[in-house]
Amino acid sequence: MPVLTVPSSLLTALAAWSLLASSLGHPQPRPCRMIQRMALCNDGRLGSVPAGLPYDTDELQLNHNHIQTLLNNSVLHYSSLFTLSLAGNHLEKIEANAFGDSHPLQSLNLAENKLHIGYHDTSLALRQLPRLRVLDLSKNELEDDIVFHLLQNLTSLQYLNLSRNLMLRLDESSFEGLPHLRELDLQGNMLFEMDGAFSSNPKLQRLNLAFNYLPCLVDFHMTQLVVLNASHNFIEWFGARQELNETFHLETLDLTDNKLLFFPFLPSQSRLRNLYLSHNSVRFYGGPVDEATAENWTKSVHFYNLNGNASNVTVQLWEDVLLGDVSSVEILDLRGNQVEYFPQGFISQMPSLSRLQMHTNCLKTLNLTSEGFSESLYELDISNNRLSEVNAEKGTLAALGNLTYLNMSHNGLGWLPPGLFSSVHSLRSVDLSYNSMGICTSEKSGVDKDSSSDCVVWKNMASLRKLYLRGCGITGVPPSAFTGMHLTHLELSDNPGLRVDTGSLRALSGTLQHLGLGKTDMQAMDFSPFYSLRYLNISRNSLTHLPTSLVNLDLRMLDARDNNLSTISPDQATSLAPKLRTVFLAGNPFNCCQMEWYRTFETTKTVHMVDHTEILCQDEAKTTYRAGVLSILCADTSRESVFWYLLLIVSGFLLFVGIPTICLLTFRPKLLQKTVKRKCVKDTSY
Ligand SMILES: *[C@@H]1O[C@H](CO)[C@@H](O)[C@H](O)[C@H]1NC(C)=O
Ligand SMILES: *[C@@H]1O[C@H](CO)[C@@H](O)[C@H](O)[C@H]1NC(C)=O
Ligand SMILES: *[C@@H]1O[C@H](CO)[C@@H](O)[C@H](O)[C@H]1NC(C)=O
Ligand SMILES: *[C@@H]1O[C@H](CO)[C@@H](O)[C@H](O)[C@H]1NC(C)=O
Ligand SMILES: *[C@@H]1O[C@H](CO)[C@@H](O)[C@H](O)[C@H]1NC(C)=O
Ligand SMILES: *[C@@H]1O[C@H](CO)[C@@H](O)[C@H](O)[C@H]1NC(C)=O
Ligand SMILES: *[C@@H]1O[C@H](CO)[C@@H](O)[C@H](O)[C@H]1NC(C)=O
Ligand SMILES: *[C@@H]1O[C@H](CO)[C@@H](O)[C@H](O)[C@H]1NC(C)=O
Ligand SMILES: *[C@@H]1O[C@H](CO)[C@@H](O)[C@H](O)[C@H]1NC(C)=O
Ligand SMILES: *[C@@H]1O[C@H](CO)[C@@H](O)[C@H](O)[C@H]1NC(C)=O
Ligand SMILES: *[C@@H]1O[C@H](CO)[C@@H](O)[C@H](O)[C@H]1NC(C)=O
Ligand SMILES: *[C@@H]1O[C@H](CO)[C@@H](O)[C@H](O)[C@H]1NC(C)=O
Repeated sequence: MPVLTVPSSLLTALAAWSLLASSLGHPQPRPCRMIQRMALCNDGRLGSVPAGLPYDTDELQLNHNHIQTLLNNSVLHYSSLFTLSLAGNHLEKIEANAFGDSHPLQSLNLAENKLHIGYHDTSLALRQLPRLRVLDLSKNELEDDIVFHLLQNLTSLQYLNLSRNLMLRLDESSFEGLPHLRELDLQGNMLFEMDGAFSSNPKLQRLNLAFNYLPCLVDFHMTQLVVLNASHNFIEWFGARQELNETFHLETLDLTDNKLLFFPFLPSQSRLRNLYLSHNSVRFYGGPVDEATAENWTKSVHFYNLNGNASNVTVQLWEDVLLGDVSSVEILDLRGNQVEYFPQGFISQMPSLSRLQMHTNCLKTLNLTSEGFSESLYELDISNNRLSEVNAEKGTLAALGNLTYLNMSHNGLGWLPPGLFSSVHSLRSVDLSYNSMGICTSEKSGVDKDSSSDCVVWKNMASLRKLYLRGCGITGVPPSAFTGMHLTHLELSDNPGLRVDTGSLRALSGTLQHLGLGKTDMQAMDFSPFYSLRYLNISRNSLTHLPTSLVNLDLRMLDARDNNLSTISPDQATSLAPKLRTVFLAGNPFNCCQMEWYRTFETTKTVHMVDHTEILCQDEAKTTYRAGVLSILCADTSRESVFWYLLLIVSGFLLFVGIPTICLLTFRPKLLQKTVKRKCVKDTSY
């Protein structure tokens, strides 16, 4: 065995360790805690690796200590150590011999340090770790050439984290000595160029390039890659190598938040399942174009790759050629793009499509029949588009057997095919808010000759649980509108003039938990049948009293803002307060002399009065006060005694201050005069 030269600081640490580890029960926290063969020494003030740990320790965690240098030999004698973690230590260097000659360490976490300072020694030390598989170098201010040095001879590496460093460009040599690399995290650098960087990493499966400055990804041909994350870059053009006669293993492609103008040119054969393209400028350029003006328009776009001749691409815009295989796609996220229509056959090329997220695009019409949505469609979000029309034939709808979430809110819809919702048997949640759709009184009403309807029949939709009809211009809820339904959520807010009464919602009395009636001109209503109700929004309704029936409910949230409430009766307050968790009451003209309810809510610790600082009240003289400040002074019972207290205080004040003053003025006139004189002399002396 080699004789160890132990530096003095280590001896100190050893001494400290023995002392602390002794059975004397020292009051200070021990620097390390052992769990089987794992030593946890995190969040301490250690300046070096503790030396007194069991020799067979296999994992050592030293995160967030003050180890600036990992000294020669300091890890050497833990010859069973497989995992060492030194994150967040201000570590500047690892001395060349810290691990000895050939240490069996497999996993090393050096995140959040300052290894850019002593990288030369550090790179020599890393070379002594022939079995290292996992290395985390994130957040170390490392530049390209430093990384190159540090990675020399790490031939066994499988996982490498270089996120949040200062790398600018990659080339063939960057990762050339890492043939076993499987996962590489490069997010949060400043990469703007990558040239053949991963050609010597044939096993790379997960690559994260998020938050860099890449302008494009062309000639993509890493067929073995499973997850590619290139979100949050400046990518205008994504293109896979087309002529490759090989199936790409790519399953997840994340291009969120880039500058894509076109749908990406995907591999011609792939297993792509998740395609995230939100927040780009993707659109399709075919579409119905006026023949005359189309004549002189550009018909194709050429993409020139100025780096060599491999990948110039010409796209015939009007033909909507889709370059690539989307047949396995399950999730397509296109939120926040500029899609006006789907090219013919686009949707039907995705027989496994389960979630289509189109929130905030420019869709104008949607024909569910001609698009050919698949039976696996589970979520369809086409909210916030410009839809004026949605068409579908009965047979199509019945085939959408898995459609569960449908969001069509914020469009200009005024007509829908009758039976659109009732034919889809698994719908659980429908959001039609902010369109102009009423609720039909009978199944025949509202259907015009083109068999579209300006109202919807909801009756008997047994699967539906959540229905959102905010701002739909609904003026009435027919008496049997919801029979045969089991809604738990019903949102009818923002329908001014809505006439809704207990009768028309009675069918939901057993199931309804969430009811939104804000801004509906709602009048007194009996809520007692709705015994499951937990959330009630009756804000902005000019109510002068809280409905008395609320006391019977087990409400958790009540929004009664912006009404005409002058008080809440003490009985109501005491029965509501213990059940409520959240209450909104600002914007009501409360009477300062009837504020007992306020104290009831205030003293009930479980209820959160969200806007309590904005709750105001007026006294008889129409002066406005903040409720929290004045509730006691004005309350009925204490009013008299407060008056007497005031009288007592005032008379006391007169007695103790007034009388001596009077005495002073009356009996000591000379003293007062003298003072005045003296002052005069002083001020005018010259
Ligand atoms: C650590 O070891 C290396 C290689 O054996 C040697 O060059 C270096 O001087 C040593 N450092 C210290 C501080 O002893
Ligand atoms: C590191 O690799 C280079 C070639 O890539 C080789 O010449 C050198 O001997 C290796 N060093 C160690 C310590 O393995
Ligand atoms: C890489 O490190 C960063 C920061 O330390 C962390 O957020 C990220 O999850 C790590 N990447 C992987 C793939 O573990
Ligand atoms: C891609 O990386 C970003 C940033 O780390 C992350 O928010 C996102 O979830 C990742 N995408 C996928 C599909 O994992
Ligand atoms: C692609 O490969 C398949 C089988 O491996 C072969 O039948 C086909 O002809 C190839 N296509 C091209 C364009 O090379
Ligand atoms: C197309 O271009 C030609 C020649 O530049 C011109 O004479 C013609 O008027 C153009 N047609 C239209 C529809 O603008
Ligand atoms: C790609 O375009 C560039 C720029 O026009 C040109 O120099 C190069 O020859 C083209 N390569 C191919 C393969 O067409
Ligand atoms: C570029 O084109 C030339 C001539 O067509 C060809 O010989 C060469 O292999 C090409 N280079 C690449 C990188 O494809
Ligand atoms: C919707 O598409 C189907 C099938 O292509 C077609 O028969 C129907 O007329 C279309 N509906 C409308 C209103 O365009
Ligand atoms: C319905 O969608 C869910 C969620 O995406 C999925 O797990 C399930 O397999 C789908 N069922 C069918 C029959 O497609
Ligand atoms: C529907 O989409 C809108 C955004 O367009 C969103 O605010 C709303 O919460 C969604 N509805 C449901 C039920 O998720
Ligand atoms: C209650 O409804 C009003 C009117 O639509 C809305 O402004 C408010 O945000 C809703 N309250 C809650 C707590 O969501």
